[in-house]
Amino acid sequence: MVQKKVTWQSPSNIALIKYWGKHDVQIPANPSLSFTLSKSFTETSLTILDEPGNKDFDFELYLDQDLRPDFKPKITTFLKRIEADLDFLKGQKFRIETHNSFPHSSGIASSASGMSALALCLLSLKQELESKKEESFFKKASTWSRLGSGSASRSVYPKLSLWGKHKAITESSDDYAIAFPERVDPIFEDFCDYILLVDKGEKKVSSTVGHQLMNNHPYAQRRFLQAHENLDALLKYLKLGDVESFGEIVESEALTLHAMMMTSMPYFILMKPNTLKILEMIWAFRKETSIPAYFTLDAGANVHLLFPKVYEQQLGDWVNTEVKALLKNGDYICDAVGNGPLKL
Ligand code: PMV
Repeated sequence: MVQKKVTWQSPSNIALIKYWGKHDVQIPANPSLSFTLSKSFTETSLTILDEPGNKDFDFELYLDQDLRPDFKPKITTFLKRIEADLDFLKGQKFRIETHNSFPHSSGIASSASGMSALALCLLSLKQELESKKEESFFKKASTWSRLGSGSASRSVYPKLSLWGKHKAITESSDDYAIAFPERVDPIFEDFCDYILLVDKGEKKVSSTVGHQLMNNHPYAQRRFLQAHENLDALLKYLKLGDVESFGEIVESEALTLHAMMMTSMPYFILMKPNTLKILEMIWAFRKETSIPAYFTLDAGANVHLLFPKVYEQQLGDWVNTEVKALLKNGDYICDAVGNGPLKL
């Protein structure tokens, strides 16, 4: 076989309605909705080498040109989940080279962008080698991404992605994410997300463990129901362009996610003192200026500051003068809603 190489750039995403709790193989306990980001992405190349390999998946992985055998177990688990579709890789040596646009130690999870970039490479290569056009390429890419990391399923579409069955959206599915199928007020199409890097360290409790702790969690069932209710409300506000009501739901979702962590057994807290300080500063800033800036959080200490693009100057100045001192090395990423993955 001749050497074959494919490269995809795939973005990270930030959930507005949170996925926290799963069953079976990466089936979510409730639907989630996210903004696809623009500047935070992973670029991955997959090269099939012109050398025979052993029967199992025979590959090397490089992160920023460094050989990383420590990543292999997670990737192998993922490949095994879709191995029925990967005949073209069997008995063949291959190489994965990957690079994140954000620093590896930024505390930004690279699993959504990383797993979706790899899934897109695998599917592209399969198509090219088998000369078979996949009818719904992104649906399949999303399904595969989900099997790598749940939230990765949402990274393969522009703007807004929905993953998980929800009664108001017929096309929605637990198996894959879909591009949000309804009209959304233009104010949300270029919304900004400034990622304020409060803590860059390794998380004390991984998402995998956090999801597991939702089994037998005393508030789990009510929480899963609430996600459906919040999604219904958010769908309405996205259509109406009601940024204030949108922000209220999004902040509540972020705090609920962390409340679930604090009420798990064992309990844990991923926020840091400066996370809380910044949340209070955002509330005070909003009150003083009437500028609709809101926060969300993922499973970590960093704060995502969300606001309409028209306020970028004011928020940029505010972060620079007031918030920067609370951030690790003063670092933040000026991200915004983006256009989805790109084949390079
Ligand atoms: O995709 P995972 O297993 O890393 O879980 C991600 C969970 C959250 O980021 C906290 C929420 C979400 O919906 O992305």
